[in-house]
Amino acid sequence: MELFDVYPLFDIHIVKGKGCHVWDENGTEYLDLYGGHAVISIGHAHPHYVEAISRQVATLGFYSNSVINKLQQELAHRLGKVCGYDDYSLFLINSGAEANENALKLASFYNGRTRILSLCKSFHGRTSLAVEATDNPKIIAPINANKHVTYLPMNDVEAMRRELSKGDVCAVIVEGIQGVGGIQLPTDEFMHALRQACDEQDTVLILDEIQSGYGRSGRFFAHQWNGIKADIVTVAKGIGNGFPMGGVLISPRFTPLYGQLGTTFGGNHLACSAALAVLDVMEEERLVENADKVGTYLLEELKKIPAIKEVRGRGLMIGLEFEQPIKELRLRLLKEQHVFTGVSGTNVIRLLPPLCLSMEEAAEFLARFKQIL
Ligand SMILES: Cc1ncc(COP(=O)(O)O)c(C=O)c1O
Repeated sequence: MELFDVYPLFDIHIVKGKGCHVWDENGTEYLDLYGGHAVISIGHAHPHYVEAISRQVATLGFYSNSVINKLQQELAHRLGKVCGYDDYSLFLINSGAEANENALKLASFYNGRTRILSLCKSFHGRTSLAVEATDNPKIIAPINANKHVTYLPMNDVEAMRRELSKGDVCAVIVEGIQGVGGIQLPTDEFMHALRQACDEQDTVLILDEIQSGYGRSGRFFAHQWNGIKADIVTVAKGIGNGFPMGGVLISPRFTPLYGQLGTTFGGNHLACSAALAVLDVMEEERLVENADKVGTYLLEELKKIPAIKEVRGRGLMIGLEFEQPIKELRLRLLKEQHVFTGVSGTNVIRLLPPLCLSMEEAAEFLARFKQIL
């Protein structure tokens, strides 16, 4: 059997990682400004993380959600405290799409409605409702095109108010910072108006923090820069530092019912031990503060480079927009300078490094980047 060929691949086989570096099978070292697509939060192969997962798998890797799992309870308590949503509850699954799927489902159970508002250029995952809320017709199969979703222009307060005033909107789903859409930031004005309009209509406000959350923006959640709270927050990527996991943070206004949500693998012992080790390291090494400090430095330095049309972002979630397509530039950065980066569309390079990126590594990246401009 061969692999189902859906990924355009770089011809590189990565076999090892440490901190913000990875190595290929020939021993070539790369600086990782991509974090395996914003997934690596505390750095590759962190010793505490390795030890915690190894210990857990040797004790109990998995048991079902039909018995008490104290690791899940500990994770909920600790995550609530560290992220500022202490009074919310946590539902655990295995991926970002699943987190959004469950969030949208909960919203519909709550107010009985079926209409969703999402933003132009948004990305929320590839499963049924999550992909329908994603503004990319190429990945919405006919079976997913069920006319639940209206896409609004980003930061257009009037358009948003107009749709919400119809009184039939189940939920609005918004990324804390748009990732796939090219690092687009919602304004404070838009987010406050959105919060208010959702309250007036009993519409559920879902913040998708799958890419922008878990400290990446320099606050635990990117929407905390805007000074608002969500009814539901979805997380994945950085929560497990590569161990597949997702979470839905749910306001106390939602009442849980037995059987309404469920999953076989979600919140298993091994995943929880990974997520707890991630929180240990984030706290011990103050990685949210580090993302803010190193990200601010990178943003300032990148804005001085004339070849870049626009630099956008917060913390260690940065987009570099060029006048011209960046395919060649990004390839040269990888092949000549050994730096991994991400991409959005044709003209934007995305930086999503591990949150432990040091000032020295950031300076090293800038030096290598300038070499190919
Ligand atoms: C904002 C956002 N939401 C949802 C997802 C989907 O997550 P997953 O690929 O884990 O299903 C992603 C993945 O890139 C994302 O960036």
